[in-house]
Amino acid sequence: MEKIIVLDFGGQYNQLIARRVRECNVYAEVQPYTKSLDEIKAMNPTGIILTGGPNSVYDMESPHYDKELFTCGIPILGICYGAQLMAWSLGGTVETAPVSEYGRTEVTVDGKEGVLKNVSDTTITWMSHTDYIAQVPEGFEISAHTPVCPVAAMENKEAKLYAVQFHPEVTHSVEGQKMLEAFVYDVCGCKGEWKMDSFVERTIEEVREKVGNGRVLCALSGGVDSSVAAVLLSKAVGKQLTCVFVDHGLLRKNEGDEVEAVFGPEGHYDLNFIRVNAQQRFYDKLAGVTDPETKRKIIGEEFIHVFEEEAKKIGAVDFLVQGTIYPDVIESGLGKSAVIKSHHNVGGLPDYVDFKEIIEPLRMLFKDEVRRAGLELGIPDYLVFRQPFPGPGLGIRIIGEVTEEKCKIVQDADYIYREEIAKAVESGLMESAPNQYFAALTNMRSVGVMGDFRTYDYAIALRAVLTSDFMTADIAHIPWEVLDRCMTRIINEVNGVNRVLYDLTSKPPGTIEFE
Ligand code: XMP
Repeated sequence: MEKIIVLDFGGQYNQLIARRVRECNVYAEVQPYTKSLDEIKAMNPTGIILTGGPNSVYDMESPHYDKELFTCGIPILGICYGAQLMAWSLGGTVETAPVSEYGRTEVTVDGKEGVLKNVSDTTITWMSHTDYIAQVPEGFEISAHTPVCPVAAMENKEAKLYAVQFHPEVTHSVEGQKMLEAFVYDVCGCKGEWKMDSFVERTIEEVREKVGNGRVLCALSGGVDSSVAAVLLSKAVGKQLTCVFVDHGLLRKNEGDEVEAVFGPEGHYDLNFIRVNAQQRFYDKLAGVTDPETKRKIIGEEFIHVFEEEAKKIGAVDFLVQGTIYPDVIESGLGKSAVIKSHHNVGGLPDYVDFKEIIEPLRMLFKDEVRRAGLELGIPDYLVFRQPFPGPGLGIRIIGEVTEEKCKIVQDADYIYREEIAKAVESGLMESAPNQYFAALTNMRSVGVMGDFRTYDYAIALRAVLTSDFMTADIAHIPWEVLDRCMTRIINEVNGVNRVLYDLTSKPPGTIEFE
């Protein structure tokens, strides 16, 4: 099978490279630079992409790699740090650049072959570097430059070695995808026959083989990720799978019953389903706690306790399934990337549940890829296109202390907001629903006047974002009349709210959730 290995040197957007390659219908996966050359060769890659990273190659503490990588005949594309590593390893020089380049940068293309084959004479790219390649190694030619970066790209066609200082994987590099296509199709000779259904089929096969007659336990949240993971497992091993659904009281309005309707005994799938009503336990644990990370940790830990108790009732299982997807992995800070938030379904694994191994079938996929996998699995559209909902639920949509009363307020407001968006989409007032939209409780109270009386009540914030990978997001432009109707209904129908705000912050600088 055609396969590109993305060798990870610690940059923030490495899975993005793999995903862009998969968009070319070529299978790609990320492997850490700590994998030896022999291990990488044993994976039989058609090509290798070396990623960016935060280090300087001439610092001996930085991640380096066996130089033989560059002479073993596998086509290689080095990006940013990866480009510098290639130059440095093969005898070129890498230095601190007199002028760093960050962001949008126009590059002049000097040689239109190989990776730069189909790009314009000058092209906008995304740069992020303080070091640069000052001198290319023997056998290499400079294929692009900028006014301050003499080697924006270099190549050694015979050896099939290519390097770019900028980041073709980000959409800000206008012709970046063309460059990756040229690398995988022209340089590596891939045909591009891989599709998401191959992923689904292969994963079902792999899981079936791994599980054998074993018993599998899955923490099902009803969200897109764990639902897709559960259905995948149910297709692979049927009733050997037991799904435990913990209702932590931080779900959206009516959600517990909806999940039960789909996955429970009256539902669509071949699996064992257990619902645990643990609402009060969570409210008790969260009483008086205001710090976001502490709340996340408490919810995560309590979730594991409840889950563990259920697992004990079931007895020993062989495998535990988690619906972890890629953005959860990166934002929880694996490897050298910075920790933004400790996501609910990563880390803190229930090691006291008696199981042999974790299965995370979606670990390398982005949200939109998970949805494509869900459709391949025949999961109904309304489930597949359900907006994502975080593991800690409303716990991180209520700023400050979480109480049952506040949960009820945010549930009711959110329900109205979702209902109004659905109506607006149905009536054609909005073309489509934003990728994620919800109400949050700001925990701010302000003075208002209702029916000639002074009120001192909460402000609800409405948020709506457009995003495909949830790593970056733009705010959605909701028509005023929709927002207006939401405001009126929320204030009239939800007790304890006298003000509605609309959050205009993109990601970055904001995150999608409030905490
Ligand atoms: P942020 O707030 O980090 O959210 O911009 C990015 C996406 O991830 C979801 N999210 C989570 N999902 N467990 C999850 O399963 C979590 O702890 C968690 N925190 C955030 C969020 O809803 C958005 O879609």
